[in-house]
Amino acid sequence: MAPLFSTIASAILCLALLIGHKKAYGDGCYRSVISFGDSLADTGNLLHMRPPGTPIQSGRWPYGKTFFHHPTGRFSDGRLIIDFIAQSLGLPFLEPFIDQVKNANTSSRDFSKGVNFAVGGATALDVSFLEKYGIFNPLTNISLSTQLDWFKEYFAIFCQANSDCKTFLQTSLIIVGEIGGNEYNYAFVQGANREVIESFVIAIIGNISFTIQELIKLGARTVMVPGNLPIGCLPYYLSYYENSEEKEYDPKTGCLNWLNRFSEYHNELLQKELNRLRGLYPHATITYGDYYNAAMRLYLSPIKYGFTSVLRACCGGGGPYNFNASAWCSYLSSTDCDDPSKYVSWDGIHFTEAAYRWIAQGLFEGPYTNPPIRTVCSSISRTYELSEY
Ligand SMILES: *[C@@H]1O[C@H](CO)[C@@H](O)[C@H](O)[C@H]1NC(C)=O
Ligand SMILES: *[C@@H]1O[C@H](CO)[C@@H](O)[C@H](O)[C@H]1NC(C)=O
Ligand SMILES: *[C@@H]1O[C@H](CO)[C@@H](O)[C@H](O)[C@H]1NC(C)=O
Ligand SMILES: *[C@@H]1O[C@H](CO)[C@@H](O)[C@H](O)[C@H]1NC(C)=O
Repeated sequence: MAPLFSTIASAILCLALLIGHKKAYGDGCYRSVISFGDSLADTGNLLHMRPPGTPIQSGRWPYGKTFFHHPTGRFSDGRLIIDFIAQSLGLPFLEPFIDQVKNANTSSRDFSKGVNFAVGGATALDVSFLEKYGIFNPLTNISLSTQLDWFKEYFAIFCQANSDCKTFLQTSLIIVGEIGGNEYNYAFVQGANREVIESFVIAIIGNISFTIQELIKLGARTVMVPGNLPIGCLPYYLSYYENSEEKEYDPKTGCLNWLNRFSEYHNELLQKELNRLRGLYPHATITYGDYYNAAMRLYLSPIKYGFTSVLRACCGGGGPYNFNASAWCSYLSSTDCDDPSKYVSWDGIHFTEAAYRWIAQGLFEGPYTNPPIRTVCSSISRTYELSEY
C-alpha cells in the first residue's frame, strides 16, 4: 500500500472505529438471548447456587480481573463468548437465572433482554446416569434437563404476564451449548475406559437434540448449537496425559492429536444430528457454532492474534503447562500472569477474555457458523465492531 493511501486508509479506519464503538453489530436483530450450557457460558449461576462459605474458583480473585475487575462467577479473566454475542447484538450481558439473593422471586425479575441457564460444571447427561458408570460431578448436580425445566418454569410464568410471549421467543436467539464437554472432562481424568466415554457421545447428542426440539416446539425459531473445543490443546489434558511419545502431539501446535480427534468426532455426530433436525423443523434456523475451528486458528497462528503463550495457562499452580490439579487458579499456591491478553488459556481449562473475543468474532464475522449467523438476521450486515480488536 502506498504510504499516503495507507495514511488516509488508517485515518478512515480510525474514524470508523470511533463511530463504530457505540454501535453494536447486530443491533435490533434479536430481542433477547437465551443460553444453556456449562462454565463456558455461565455468567454467575454456579456461584449463586453455592451454599455460603463454600466459594468456588470463579468467585475468587483473579477471576474477573481484566474486565469486571472483580469475580462475577464467570470462569475467565473477563467476558465470555456469550457476553460478546450479547454486546454484538446491542443487548446487555445475560442475567444468570439464579439470583445472587437467595430465593429471589423469579417472576419479579426482568429477563426481557436475555436469561442465562448455563451452570459451570453442568453436563448434558443426568448425574445419576453418569454415576452408574462411576463418574462423579464434583461441582454440581445440574444437567441440561434441569436447565430445560428451569426454562419451562420461567416461560410459563412469563407467558402469564406477557401475551406476546410466543413472538418474544421467536425473536430470541437461543444458544444450546457448548454442553457435554464436562462428561469428557470428568470421565477421562476419573479413569473411565475409552469405549465407555465414546459411548457417551451419542447419548449426549441425543439429549442436546431433545432439548433443541423442546425449545422449537415452544416457539424458538433461531437456535445456535456450538460444538466442542479442541480439548487436546487444553493445559488440563496436556498435563494429565503428559508423555514423551512425540507422535502423540501435533508438531504444528503441540496439542494432543487423539483428544482433538475425539472432539472432532463429537462435532461430526452433532452436525449430522443438526442436519436431521433441519429436515424435521424447516421453519426453524439451526446454526452450528464451530468453536473447534474458531479456536484452532489461535493455536495455529498465535502471533497473528496477539498471543505469545498458547499451551501454558495464564493462571495456575505451576508445571510445564502451568496447570496443577492440586493448585487451581485462585488457590493460594497459584499465580497469574501479568498480561492475560497474551495467553489463550486462562486457568488450564477455560479461555482468556482475549481468546473468547476471537472465537466470538469468528462466529459473527468468520466462517465459523453454519449457516452463517450474519445471514440469519438480515440486519446483521455491518462489520463486526472492529474497535474491539
Ligand atoms: C412474586 O412476584 C410476583 C410478581 O411481582 C407476585 O405476584 C408474587 O406474589 C410473588 N411471589 C412471592 C412468593 O413473593
Ligand atoms: C436426557 O434428557 C431427558 C429429558 O431432559 C432426561 O429425562 C434424561 O434423563 C436424560 N438422559 C440422560 C441419560 O441423562
Ligand atoms: C441437587 O441437589 C440438591 C441438594 O442436595 C437437591 O435439593 C436438588 O433437588 C438436586 N437437583 C437435582 C436436579 O438433582
Ligand atoms: C502442585 O501443587 C501442590 C499443592 O500446592 C504442590 O504440593 C505440588 O508440588 C505441585 N506440583 C507441581 C508439579 O508443581
